[in-house]
Amino acid sequence: MRAIVVRNFGAAPELADMPVPEPGPGAVRVQLEAAGVNPFDQRMATGFLDGKLPHDFPMILGVDGAGVVSSIGPGVSRFAVGDRVVGTFLTPPVGHGSFADYSVAPEDGTLVHIPDGVPAGAAAALPTAGLTAQDLVDASEIAPDQTVLVIGATGGVGSFLVQLANTAGAQVIATARGDAADQMTRLGAATTVDYTDGTVIEQVAAAYPNGIDVLFDLVSPPEQLAAATTLVRKGGTVYSTISAADEAALRERGINGGNFESTGGAPELTRLLRRVAAGDIVVPIDATVPLAEAATVVGASGARGKTVLTI
Ligand SMILES: NC(=O)c1ccc[n+]([C@@H]2O[C@H](COP(=O)([O-])OP(=O)(O)OC[C@H]3O[C@@H](n4cnc5c(N)ncnc54)[C@H](OP(=O)(O)O)[C@@H]3O)[C@@H](O)[C@H]2O)c1
Repeated sequence: MRAIVVRNFGAAPELADMPVPEPGPGAVRVQLEAAGVNPFDQRMATGFLDGKLPHDFPMILGVDGAGVVSSIGPGVSRFAVGDRVVGTFLTPPVGHGSFADYSVAPEDGTLVHIPDGVPAGAAAALPTAGLTAQDLVDASEIAPDQTVLVIGATGGVGSFLVQLANTAGAQVIATARGDAADQMTRLGAATTVDYTDGTVIEQVAAAYPNGIDVLFDLVSPPEQLAAATTLVRKGGTVYSTISAADEAALRERGINGGNFESTGGAPELTRLLRRVAAGDIVVPIDATVPLAEAATVVGASGARGKTVLTI
């Protein structure tokens, strides 16, 4: 089968011919139709999980994927051959991911049925970015009319987060440069801030002199995050998805939150898919790229929503 692999940590991703995997007990094999691209793919390729989990090389990249169940292992009861499914394909040893014609996942992992009417490409864009956004909004318990600043809003997580925070009733302030601002407004941002046009802090402080309630920061390193935190009222919430928060310093200032790791699994993914099927959330796909050209988009910067591979 075709697969996008790296032959060692840090090597460039390449198209390779790999054996079709067989599902073991409790696992299903999915013939993939689409795979979502995330910054995490590049991190995995450069060894982020080295020392934490075993790896197989050549390592097939990709975590998020959607397709059709083509084979089931012994004991599988939740899925049957022919089911349309979406989920995450990251079971140790690392290296058997979703950037391939086929991949295998445990039936009790993050693997769920795709509702009718949701295309495989849209489904494949959801697991990592969409679940993280939904988890962030759930964790911060946004109340109607609260002000929520999203720094790094124009990428995968942010494009879902702006919508979900808006749906929760928040006044959303989204960072965006250039014409990405229009997209943020369409997704539900009340205000956009161009971070290349003066500092975000000065612009937000001028527009919201009484401070904001929630800061979701998807991109700022620790010093910048600490500075942005001064925008948040006492009793407010700050989350960093890149482990940039000094949690002790947040507590000293009476701020909730901290470093955030998405824990969303199958039930949360099903909930998100229902919202997509109902039309409550748009899946913001920016680029659709054939599997064979995955190397051109893995690790790319300047995302506008999600990039999806067609398989
Ligand atoms: N902890 C978790 O559970 C978890 C889960 C998912 C993702 N993450 C992490 O969260 C981060 C965001 O993920 P993602 O999928 O949304 O990434 P992404 O799709 O690459 O989006 C990042 C966005 O941030 C913008 N950006 C870059 N520098 C910026 C700055 N200084 N100010 C404002 N915006 C800026 C980028 O566009 P421009 O450069 O054009 O402005 C891009 O649109 C990644 O580091 C990812 O690994 C963590």
